[in-house]
Amino acid sequence: TRPLKVALLGCGVVGSEVARIMTTHADDLAARIGAPVELAGVAVRRPDKVREGIDPALITTDATALVKRGDLDVVIEVIGGIEPARTLITTAFAHGASVVSANKALLAKDGSALHAAAVEHGQDLYYEAAVAGAIPLLRPLRESLAGDHVHRVLGIVNGTTNFILDKMDSTGAGYQEALDEATALGYAEADPTADVEGFDAAAKAAILAGIAFHTRVGIDDVHREGMTEVTAADFASARAMGCTIKLLAICERGADGSSVSARVHPAMLPLSHPLAGVREAYNAVFVESEAAGRLMFYGPGAGGAPTASAVLGDLVAVCRNRLAGATGPGESAYAGLTVSGMGDV
Ligand code: HSE
Repeated sequence: TRPLKVALLGCGVVGSEVARIMTTHADDLAARIGAPVELAGVAVRRPDKVREGIDPALITTDATALVKRGDLDVVIEVIGGIEPARTLITTAFAHGASVVSANKALLAKDGSALHAAAVEHGQDLYYEAAVAGAIPLLRPLRESLAGDHVHRVLGIVNGTTNFILDKMDSTGAGYQEALDEATALGYAEADPTADVEGFDAAAKAAILAGIAFHTRVGIDDVHREGMTEVTAADFASARAMGCTIKLLAICERGADGSSVSARVHPAMLPLSHPLAGVREAYNAVFVESEAAGRLMFYGPGAGGAPTASAVLGDLVAVCRNRLAGATGPGESAYAGLTVSGMGDV
C-alpha cells in the first residue's frame, strides 16, 4: 500500500509532539490505519531552531507552497489563530488534502465556512484537539451519542482559569496572587487575556454546542463573562453555602427543544457536583442526555503530548476514511436547531 503523505503546519509545543509520536509509533500507526504514514513536510516560522528527530530536509518556511504540493493526503494545522491558518486550510482542501486542526479560535469563528469548503472538495475536517485537549469529547458527542438527545453540556474547558480558581479556593489567595502563581508555573501565558476573560472557553463552548446539538454555533453567539472579578470573599461565601466557583461553559437546548444557547461565566457549583472536584489545570465536561443520562469526560485539557494524542486520533480516522474512499460526517450532522442568545442563567 502506498504511504499516506502528511504535512505538519506548526512545530511548537503540540506540533513537535505530533512529529515525535508519528516517528516513534510509525509501525503502530501503520498497523492501525492499514498503510504507512509519512511526514512529507513541516512548515515552521523559525527554521534555525533545533528540532530533534525531524529530518532537516523536511523543514520549510513556505507553508503555502507545502499545502499546494498536490500529493498530500492530510495537512495537520497546529499554528493556531485565524490567519494564515484559515487560508492554508482552504488551500489544502483545494489541493486534495484533508485537514486535522487543533485551532479552536478558527473553528469557532469560521467552522461553518470551513466545513463547506471541505465538503466542496470532498475532504475531511477533524478537530478533536480543539476542545479539552486529550479528552475524547467531540467524537463521542458527534457519533456515540448521535442517536441520543443531549439536553445540556456543562464544561470546565479552560485549564488556566481552573488552576487559578482552584488555588483561590484551596488557599484563600486573591485573583492576582493565584494568577501570578499560574504564570510562574507556566500554566498561564504572559498575556492571559484569552483565558481569564473567557474567550478561549467561549470558542470551545461554540464548538461543543454545535456538535452536541448538531447545529452551527459561532463564538459571537456565546454570552461571555470572564473570571477576573471573582474574589477571595466570593469563595468564602460560596464555601459557607457548600459550593465552589468554577468558570463554566454551559450549552443547552431551550425549553421549546428547538433552540440552543451557549454561555461562559463563573458559576457557583455545589461541592457534591462531579465538576466541583476538578482540580488544578484539568478539564472536565458533564453531559446530560435523554437516554444515556449523566456522563462525565475528564482529563488533561492542554499540553503538548495530550493535545498531540487527540491530533493523532484524528489523523488515524482521516487516513482510514481516505483508504475507504469515504469522508466523515458532512453537513447532515449539523442540520437543525436555531441558535438563540443566552439562556436562563
Ligand atoms: N489556554 C488553554 C487552557 C489551553 O488553559 O485550557 C488549551 O486550549
